[in-house]
Amino acid sequence: MCGIVGYIGKRDAYPVILNGLKRLEYRGYDSAGIALYDGSTIQLCKTKGKVADLEKKVSEEMATKGNLGIGHTRWATHGIPNDINSHPHFSNSGDLVIIHNGIIENYASIKKELINRGYTFYSDTDTEVLVNLIEDIKKNENVKLGKAVQIALNQVVGAYAIALFDKNKPDEIVVAKLGSPLAIGIGTDEFFVASDASPFIEFTNNAIYLEDEEMAIIRLVREIKIRKVKDDSIVAPYIQELQLNIEQIEKGGYDHFMLKEIYEQPSVIKDTYRGRLLADKGIIRLGGLEDYIEKFINADRIIIVACGTSWHAGLVAEYIFEDWARIPVEVEYASEFRYRNPVITEKDVVIAISQSGETADTLAAIKLAKEKGAFVYGICNVVGSTISRATHSGTYTHAGPEIGVASTKAFTTQITVLTMIALKLAKIKGTISQTDYMVHLRELELIPTKVESALSKNDAIEKIALLFKDATNFLYLGRGYNFPVALEGALKLKEISYIHAEGYPAAEMKHGPIALIDEHMPIVVIAINSNHYEKVVSNIQEIKSRKGKIIAVVTEGDTVVRELADYIMEVPYTPETLSPLVTTIPLQLLSYHIALMLNRNVDQPRNLAKAVTVE
Ligand code: G6P
Repeated sequence: MCGIVGYIGKRDAYPVILNGLKRLEYRGYDSAGIALYDGSTIQLCKTKGKVADLEKKVSEEMATKGNLGIGHTRWATHGIPNDINSHPHFSNSGDLVIIHNGIIENYASIKKELINRGYTFYSDTDTEVLVNLIEDIKKNENVKLGKAVQIALNQVVGAYAIALFDKNKPDEIVVAKLGSPLAIGIGTDEFFVASDASPFIEFTNNAIYLEDEEMAIIRLVREIKIRKVKDDSIVAPYIQELQLNIEQIEKGGYDHFMLKEIYEQPSVIKDTYRGRLLADKGIIRLGGLEDYIEKFINADRIIIVACGTSWHAGLVAEYIFEDWARIPVEVEYASEFRYRNPVITEKDVVIAISQSGETADTLAAIKLAKEKGAFVYGICNVVGSTISRATHSGTYTHAGPEIGVASTKAFTTQITVLTMIALKLAKIKGTISQTDYMVHLRELELIPTKVESALSKNDAIEKIALLFKDATNFLYLGRGYNFPVALEGALKLKEISYIHAEGYPAAEMKHGPIALIDEHMPIVVIAINSNHYEKVVSNIQEIKSRKGKIIAVVTEGDTVVRELADYIMEVPYTPETLSPLVTTIPLQLLSYHIALMLNRNVDQPRNLAKAVTVE
């Protein structure tokens, strides 16, 4: 994954591209680069490190003149992060400059051929191979840049969102997409190119999202021409009006995006059910679901595919769907599902969950499920994202942009959507009593207030974080609906603090992890009032007798676990079925504070990226 930005128009390209790169840094941040063109000279600057490092280097080394430019923030795939492997990349003649998000899988054979034809390569990247392939075609076949790009893309295997320009064409940028996202912002006499709309949202609300295997030639005078890469056919541009605004993508007074996003949960959960959940009237209305309700009702089973935190939301959904709607559910890592020749039939419903809507493995799983005839429903956050378009129908979470790499509000809003779907299906199927149904609708409406109350315990959680920040291992335990929450809590800690953490079903502790317990091991146990309470208390006893340090998430007013645990993190009472929406809050805060105390880069943890558009 990487972030790409391009600009052509009347403004100075440099500030537009630099700010755009800062907004896209969540997509990758191991190196960054920029190329500017003023009609006579191409200035290029790139460096290992973050966009801030690039900014410094540019101020020391480069003139920032030019109304055309491209920029890149990288998450390394081919070649280690260093200055040379950073993008943009020149072609051998120095005429073409390219940025690329994706992977060219057959780059090695193309590179070999190009070396035989006299080309020299300075980096280890697949991207430098692509730009030279384009150059080679352009020269040998004597075609224009757009045509050369098209011929080249028909020879490569892999994924790409590219933007490039030619020194001999100061009024043109060529872009293309397959697998990785690419949006074109349309202003008055100016165009923007980016991996998502955030780099250009303050300049224009009008955007075109290229579809896979489409390319566009963006010219200042003749505007945009979109073609299919495969057969050269012309595509009529579909211009969307974006709802995003600039405040939504800024930190709003918080030190980190992650913290802002944790605190946004009461309001975004409300946004997720607003207009869809009418608790008083006993109605749940989800636009994308209404026309396909029969598919769900008649499904043999529901298969949920997702990655990372979204996979954890899927695990919570397994409990909810089976409990209420009595439909068998399987939850699969998208990466495993796509490669294991799964048995899927037309009677299966596949739910794909993805915050970004761009995760490559989830997208591939969707394609596979569709090929096998399954109905595929998407739960995405990013409007217009690839997954939202690749599924038959779906529901948006309405969480607003999630910039912190560690996912927080996406998780709780995904669970909110999944809960509404399950309740609706259960109601139609008659597998939930009217009383239970009504109680849960009302309880769902109360979740934002309960999340607020869980957030108000932040200071106590910060104190616990201080005591355990130097631990090298953590165990997270939970049962039933809160087993996935334990997994998610452990993942949050790993992601941003780099402390090893494992999530386990509390009952499984005795089958292995118990061997790890001694007086140095902190164990976070979700021990709220639920059907499993007594059992979890027994697990806590087992930990205690081995001197483990117990940090328990408990229901406000709890006395038993309070006595047993070393530290407690309180949450308001919530029915067990909805409790993950609340119990996850203290775990998010605990990870945040520990990471902060360890001086980690909370929003951009090492080696991770927000949208994983490579396998
Ligand atoms: C990356 C992110 C995670 C996210 C996962 C799935 O690993 O760092 O936070 O949960 O991708 O992303 P998705 O956008 O499909 O939900």
